[in-house]
Amino acid sequence: VSLKPYNTFGLPAVARTLVRIEADADVRALLAHPELGRARKFVLGGGSNIVLTRDVEQLVLKVEVRGLRLVETREDAWIVEAGAGENWHDLVTWTLEQGLPGLENMALIPGTVGAAPVQNIGAYGVELKDRFDSLDAVDLVTGRTVTLTAPMCRFGYRDSIFKHELAGKSLITRVRLRLPRPWQPVLGYLDLERKVAETGITAPDARQIYDWVCEIRRQKLPDPRLLGNAGSFFKNPVVTPEQCRDIIGRDPEIVHYPMPDGTYKLAAGWLIDACGWKGKSIGRAGVYEKQALVLVNRGGAIGAEVVTLARAIQESVYGRFGIRLEPEPVVA
Ligand code: EPU
Repeated sequence: VSLKPYNTFGLPAVARTLVRIEADADVRALLAHPELGRARKFVLGGGSNIVLTRDVEQLVLKVEVRGLRLVETREDAWIVEAGAGENWHDLVTWTLEQGLPGLENMALIPGTVGAAPVQNIGAYGVELKDRFDSLDAVDLVTGRTVTLTAPMCRFGYRDSIFKHELAGKSLITRVRLRLPRPWQPVLGYLDLERKVAETGITAPDARQIYDWVCEIRRQKLPDPRLLGNAGSFFKNPVVTPEQCRDIIGRDPEIVHYPMPDGTYKLAAGWLIDACGWKGKSIGRAGVYEKQALVLVNRGGAIGAEVVTLARAIQESVYGRFGIRLEPEPVVA
């Protein structure tokens, strides 16, 4: 089975066996299978956070659990449940159509609902963990369905237990989002404040914020259907106040944000841009013209080219700033 249509980078790779999972019972049936049951497994969601560098020997489980519903209306929140195979952006759009605001800042993030908790997706001041209630996952050894609450998921910046202890061991089937009532806009992010200033709309509703976020993202980020990519390729590095002061001393322009714990987050896109990478390519892998943090497939690239480009960027950023950039997507 070719995995090219199943990864947003559009990288070529082949899976020996691919099984579609539409319900928890499909996993249990698979585990009961004499051969496939014991095979090593690889869970694939929307393929929006993966760099495929080789054929996948493991059994690929393509998550296709559907369903969008309001499961509970509480005094202080709405609880919405979505199947892991639903498209994330479609969920955001659906909630707004139902009059359930709260996910608008995370509009247009590529990928599936099931992949969202894995890397704790986030944008424009809101992360998944800020809107998370709980999730159901099937244990890939026992076949049992378990429910995980937020603390159990150990969310961090683009991180969770599903990238560590539970990597390859469990398959997320449903995610429940908690949308706080009354709704309050999150406008702190620079790009959104600019929209407020430009339009004079000082009290935007959720639909307005959704439209703004879609506009901002369409301007800066390539549409994976037109140009293969996996969103931000590196995490924004976090440095100590001393390191930050040192770098500002040399590069006063550097984009940095103070964090609640006293550290500073640097804009990786700025660091890469400052090293002159914007618009450059190695082979058929390139750095997007409008946002240096996004690596793209210029057409026919293979995973190794993306990895080579990523390493070259890491070396030059390290050489100039002494900072090691960490990739965001999983390299498989
Ligand atoms: N910048 C440059 N040159 C560039 C790119 C960025 O100088 O080529 C500067 C910008 O001017 C800006 C700063 O870097 O001052 C930050 O850029 P931006 O606001 O575009 O956000 P980001 O830090 O690059 C992060 C997330 C995105 C998320 C946006 C908005 C990470 C790794 N990325 O990007 O998430 O959409 O903030 O909240 O945290 C993703 O994870 O895949 C993703 C797209």
